[in-house]
Amino acid sequence: MEIEVAIAGGHGKIGLLLGKLLVEQGHTVLGLIRNPDQEDDLHAIGVEPVLCDLEADDDVGEAVAGVDAVVFAAGAGAGSGVERKRTMDLGGAVKLIEAAREKGIGRYVIVSSMGAADPPAEGGDAFGEYLRAKAAADRALVESGLDYTIVRPGMLTDEPPTGRVEIGSRVERAEVPRADVAAVLAAVLVAPNTIGETFELISGETPIGDAVAAL
Ligand SMILES: NC(=O)c1ccc[n+]([C@@H]2O[C@H](COP(=O)([O-])OP(=O)(O)OC[C@H]3O[C@@H](n4cnc5c(N)ncnc54)[C@H](OP(=O)(O)O)[C@@H]3O)[C@@H](O)[C@H]2O)c1
Repeated sequence: MEIEVAIAGGHGKIGLLLGKLLVEQGHTVLGLIRNPDQEDDLHAIGVEPVLCDLEADDDVGEAVAGVDAVVFAAGAGAGSGVERKRTMDLGGAVKLIEAAREKGIGRYVIVSSMGAADPPAEGGDAFGEYLRAKAAADRALVESGLDYTIVRPGMLTDEPPTGRVEIGSRVERAEVPRADVAAVLAAVLVAPNTIGETFELISGETPIGDAVAAL
């Protein structure tokens, strides 16, 4: 099955890995970016760049119109403060939910985070706010009526892919290479059994295809 996918955070580390993988698998990919300097990098891997700022733009529907699925792989990033956890990690994810609903796109896969299942009620500085933003975005997606999958990876690394993971509703706190997260996202997008599922993801022993099929 070949599908058309829009990746929010198209030039992010996971976004680039996912875009390249999906193109190699024969899918059509739009990469949402806010900086036109990043267009060439997307063209180089066969991803069509679309300019869209998930914080500054009021309505991002036109950027994703016509695709079969959206993936939220964007984020304010480690160096950002409390405010951008709200405007980007929560607000950007919600804006993409609204766009999917407006344009009749059924499928939404979100890169959440380990820790979003039980964020601190208050405090924790920017990291506490990040986990609360991730948790709130996940709740909004569940309540949206869209065909969602919520993927909560552990600490991301830039190690090479292993092709093997551990997936479960709750798993031990551990690392996972971004490349393996991207491979899980690509598998999830074409696996209807993952619709309505929320899971944590770390490196493990199970081949990605088997782990996703078992959800
Ligand atoms: N780091 C971890 O250990 C960890 C663990 C679990 C989950 N996560 C989550 O994993 C996801 C991806 O991680 P990553 O390492 O691939 O992230 P990344 O490399 O920092 O990429 C984030 C992307 O979001 C984009 N972005 C930021 N603000 C935007 C805006 N207003 N409009 C549109 N795009 C915007 C950035 O674009 P610019 O280049 O324009 O800034 C960038 O392309 C994030 O959701 C993160 O929260 C991270």
